[in-house]
Parts: sequence; C-alpha cells; structure tokens
Amino acid sequence: MVINNDTIIKDDNPLIRTKSEDVSLPLSEEDEKTLRAMLKYVDDSTNEEIAEKENLRPAVGISAIQIGIPKKMTAVILKDEEGNKTYEYALVNPKIVSNSIEKSALGTGEGCLSVADEHEGYIYRSARIKIKAYDLLQEKNIEIQAKGYLAIVLQHELDHFKGILFYDYINTEDPFYKPDNSTVIE
Ligand code: NI
Repeated sequence: MVINNDTIIKDDNPLIRTKSEDVSLPLSEEDEKTLRAMLKYVDDSTNEEIAEKENLRPAVGISAIQIGIPKKMTAVILKDEEGNKTYEYALVNPKIVSNSIEKSALGTGEGCLSVADEHEGYIYRSARIKIKAYDLLQEKNIEIQAKGYLAIVLQHELDHFKGILFYDYINTEDPFYKPDNSTVIE
C-alpha cells in the first residue's frame, strides 16, 4: 500500500465525510498491515529526506478514512525537537471516555493531510481527555490520559471517524474569539 500526498483522500472527495466502523479484534492481518503502514507514514513524514523522496506531507497523525478505509484506526507520533518520539500510538477503536469542561486551542490553528488549504482560526477542544483503545504497539487495551498538544491531536484524529474536519469548528464570524474557560496553547 502506497500512502503519499497523492493517495491521501482530500476534502474535495465526499469519502472523507464517511463515518468509520468499529474494527473487530483480534486484528485481521489486513487491518494490521494497514495500521502499520499508517504508522510508518507518520514516522517517515517528519524525516525530511524520506518525505521529499516519497512525496509525504509532514504529519503527527493519520486516520484510516484518509486512505479510504472507513475503520476506526489511527496512528499518532509526536516527536521532540531532536526528532525523538515522545508519544507513539497505533490505536484501534479509540473512544473518549471522559473529557474536561475546560477547552484549549492551538494558537497556530490546525492542519490536516486531507486539507490542502489553510483555514485560520481557533479550534477549541477539551483540554484534557481520557481515551480507551486497543494499541497495536503494546498489543493490549490501554487507557491514555492526554492534555495539551497530545489531547488536541487525538481529538482531531478521532473526529475523522465521524467525518468531521477541523475547520468545521472555526467560528466564521470571529475565527479568533476566546470563550470563557478556555486557553490558547502557544
Ligand atoms: Ni486530519
């Protein structure tokens, strides 16, 4: 399976709005292969040399619907400035089981592999979340307590299961408004 900037489904394709289905566990060989390829995409995408050679757009996450597969699988890798992985997940059927009332948004806004254009504005998401999922890397059910950037990234990816894109949330009248009980992460 080739995943690159040409094969990733963009927002001009209605398929990106498809709702994703639960995946049966244990993972089929095919689903496991797909999820590992997604993880590899994310990892390689932030390696400048590989990214340029293979036409990969840098990303911290990808969900299966973005390669046309409506299944609840997502791969997320966060790296520090030296390129060391700080978080790495290959999640199956992730579900938010609790979330804070407090919201946070990235000061820089969000981007997405399926969205070519820039959409400026704050996207408010829960500042803290708890997720339950099966993680292919740890080969078990896990619970993730996330806040800050990781919490934002995970909520962005899980939204893809519902066919939601980040810019759906931008307040068109006032893209940079700041509601009560919210913080902007700079
Ligand atoms: Ni996205």
